Amino acid sequence: MVQHLYIETVGCQMNMLDSEMVVASLRRQGYEITSDIKQADTILFNTCSVRQHAEDKIYSALGRLRSWKEEHPEKVIGVLGCMAQKDQQKIFQRAPFVDLIVGPGQLQQVPDLIEQARRGGEMLVAVSRARNDGSLVDIKRSHETFDPLRDPTMRPTPFQAYLRIQIGCDKFCTYCVVPMTRGPEQGRPPAEILQEARLLAEQGCLEITLLGQTVNSYRYQGEDQQWRLADLLEQLHEIEGIRRIKFVTSYPRDMDERLLKTVRDLPGCSPYLHVPLQSGSDAVLERMRRGYSVDDYRQMMERIDRILPEAAVASDFIVGFCGETDDEFQMSVEALREFRFKNSFIFKYSEREGTMANRQMPDDVPYDVKQRRNNLLLEIQNEISEQENQRFVGSTVEVLVEGQSKKSVKEDEQGPVIQLVGRTPCDRIVVFDGTQRQIGQILPVTVYDTKPHTLLGLVATEHVGPELYLLGSP
Ligand code: 5AD
Ligand code: SF4
Repeated sequence: MVQHLYIETVGCQMNMLDSEMVVASLRRQGYEITSDIKQADTILFNTCSVRQHAEDKIYSALGRLRSWKEEHPEKVIGVLGCMAQKDQQKIFQRAPFVDLIVGPGQLQQVPDLIEQARRGGEMLVAVSRARNDGSLVDIKRSHETFDPLRDPTMRPTPFQAYLRIQIGCDKFCTYCVVPMTRGPEQGRPPAEILQEARLLAEQGCLEITLLGQTVNSYRYQGEDQQWRLADLLEQLHEIEGIRRIKFVTSYPRDMDERLLKTVRDLPGCSPYLHVPLQSGSDAVLERMRRGYSVDDYRQMMERIDRILPEAAVASDFIVGFCGETDDEFQMSVEALREFRFKNSFIFKYSEREGTMANRQMPDDVPYDVKQRRNNLLLEIQNEISEQENQRFVGSTVEVLVEGQSKKSVKEDEQGPVIQLVGRTPCDRIVVFDGTQRQIGQILPVTVYDTKPHTLLGLVATEHVGPELYLLGSP
């Protein structure tokens, strides 16, 4: 009988990619995906530990399954990802009916572990070694990447894919749990990355987003050269079919001239840089151990402006980090006004067990102050985003059409029109009317209006008049 799998994924792009791999490995064993949790034989949660909120969501989803699992003991429930690595046995204390717990470095074991769990017996735990558990070589080895199974049907779109080039992180920012959950930083061998990219291109993939926690710190010692991100970009750019290459997330100190010049000189490299600043106060950056000052960041922005003036730069901010005063927060406001990011992801500091901040600094900014600071920064960012978007009105941008927008069909005097959504090379979202057939194409779109987070446009083409779009059929 066919087994059904329900999988829920929270967290970052790494997690999305991990889920793609897990699903691909289970489909090879004949599993089918279901979106109805109650129809599933196996239920997996791929989890995130970066903030408490993400963990709470999973614990409540598990709580809702408690009595159902009692009625259906044959169903297998698994917790995968960062929470599995971080909490391990603690998950069993809060949800003792969970059958398996698998850390992000052990996902290749999922199919076997499900089989074992189905046979009954012990709860199963597969996690990687902690950062102090043995030699670095052994610790590294225990965090395995799980990448070669690419399944275009499992991606949000078959023509876009994430490609992992690095796992883990060695930066140890004091607030962050990632170096613990995902282990030491390791660059994947270039040959594997290039082979995977070729496979993706054969599958019709147009856009590849390279993933790493600090992706521009990528290093791999080959036999006769040390590979950096710029070297990889040059090689990936040669692959026929790959039209766009992005990379996230970058670390400010490693945004060097060579990398920026490589992005400038390779037309397929998107001028989109996600380089989190985190705070505009040197004292806070120091407490975060980010390893740079606001002035270092400013110099990086000047390098970007000089070499890649068209680049869109996005940031992350944490508000309410340990001891953050009003004045320190104000410096984040000023930095945001100075650097005018395309967009920023803004987070309220969430204390994480196992981090240096948790051991050494009290989480002393009250929740409502964090909330207020978050709202204020978001408001300013929205204003900036809208103003920056305005600059595009009247220009024609190149859009990779990703699919139908949320409110996809609207009525026109001539009948229903499909609303499509896509992205520019600099990662701006563009909404415009079109046809099903245009999904997966790269099209010129002329922008006529903007919202804070979207450009509104019309397809600009000399060959096909607008009336033809209205006839659009799949
Ligand atoms: N609390 C709040 N935000 C955090 N981030 C990482 N750790 C924490 C934490 N403990 C944010 C950082 C990072 C993004 C992925 O999540 O801004 O860049
Ligand atoms: Fe966490 Fe800092 Fe590493 Fe990013 S660079 S994953 S914030 S430790």
